[in-house]
Amino acid sequence: MEDLFGQHYLSSNDAAQVLGYTVQHTRLLIRQGQLPAQKLGRDWLVSQGDLARFRVSQTTSPPRRLDTPEVTLPRAPNGEISAVNVSQVPQLSPFRYPGGKTWLIPYVRAWLHSSPSRPRLFVEPFAGGAIASLTAVFEDLAERAMIVEMDEDVSVVWKVILRGDYEQLMQRIMEFLPSPESVRLAISEQGLSPLHHAFATIVRNRMARGGILAPGAGIVKNGENGKGLTSRWYPETLCRRIGEIARRRKRLDPLGGDGFGVMRALASSDGAAYFVDPPYTVAGRRLYKHSEMDHSELFRILARLEGSFLATYDDAQEIRALADKHGFAVHVIAMKTTHHLQKQELLISRDLAWLTPG
Ligand SMILES: C[S@@+](CC[C@H](N)C(=O)[O-])C[C@H]1O[C@@H](n2cnc3c(N)ncnc32)[C@H](O)[C@@H]1O
Repeated sequence: MEDLFGQHYLSSNDAAQVLGYTVQHTRLLIRQGQLPAQKLGRDWLVSQGDLARFRVSQTTSPPRRLDTPEVTLPRAPNGEISAVNVSQVPQLSPFRYPGGKTWLIPYVRAWLHSSPSRPRLFVEPFAGGAIASLTAVFEDLAERAMIVEMDEDVSVVWKVILRGDYEQLMQRIMEFLPSPESVRLAISEQGLSPLHHAFATIVRNRMARGGILAPGAGIVKNGENGKGLTSRWYPETLCRRIGEIARRRKRLDPLGGDGFGVMRALASSDGAAYFVDPPYTVAGRRLYKHSEMDHSELFRILARLEGSFLATYDDAQEIRALADKHGFAVHVIAMKTTHHLQKQELLISRDLAWLTPG
């Protein structure tokens, strides 16, 4: 039902369903004054706004403790590195990012642990979902991290979470009920403000196949197994992640623009460590708005960096040749794509001795 101001109200029964509590527990919250409500006859009415605020407060208050991360790489008895169990890597990013490197995180940890001192600055020049920067800061592997992303649709999300009104963003996420119309409207409003822009990107990222944000990427119409678009929308999870990132905003710097320029500017800083994950040489075109780049120039910059770097690339002949030319170490790792295809990925650095046990 609606009041004079167009505010929507839910019965305590419906509110309980939204919250995932029993009706009894929901009424207890109302009686305790934790969930604002108005009495109507024998029932209580909860406004959608109050419900959204309550859900935000529930998802942000107790900071989640992360388990102590495993810093050694998983190995088979013969010493070979075995496949990473992605379910054991905390998902920290609000994005489901195409080409995301959650599965590579144990390698990032092992690399950072191998350095004699903790990096003062962790730089992710092609950040996307920024899982490496987030892990570095959440797990205290670096003092601070710089998230650099050229796609404005993506960088605005980082800017709003880390420098803007992230609570408003969380509120919008909680209040949003996805339908083909509401999704279209949210996307069409992206020009109104950075907050609208960030929200539109998050909606697109959830509703597009494979999370692809490149122009022309299709939006799904029916959600998972025809269950509707709500089956792709996890507001509590999104808000919990945003809240936890925002709590660390003093240690995370969001930057729009070109990762090449940032690396050149920082090249002589010795306390920096760079995680370099550029668009794939071939598949990048389909996945990202910005995918064309001068790979030879990127390797020239890597060679000039004072700090340590770990680059990850698809296994392409051109890339192997560039690594060879600069005398970098290359290691091939097998990875499973989301479609369970076996693929080879290259790890490139000045020194990959930390991959060898003992
Ligand atoms: C492979 S994705 C990074 C994925 C990321 N490591 C993750 O785990 O989510 C590459 C990213 O680089 C961005 N990009 C492309 N060219 C760039 C440039 N010159 N400077 C900064 N970012 C760029 C793309 O928009 C894309 O988000």
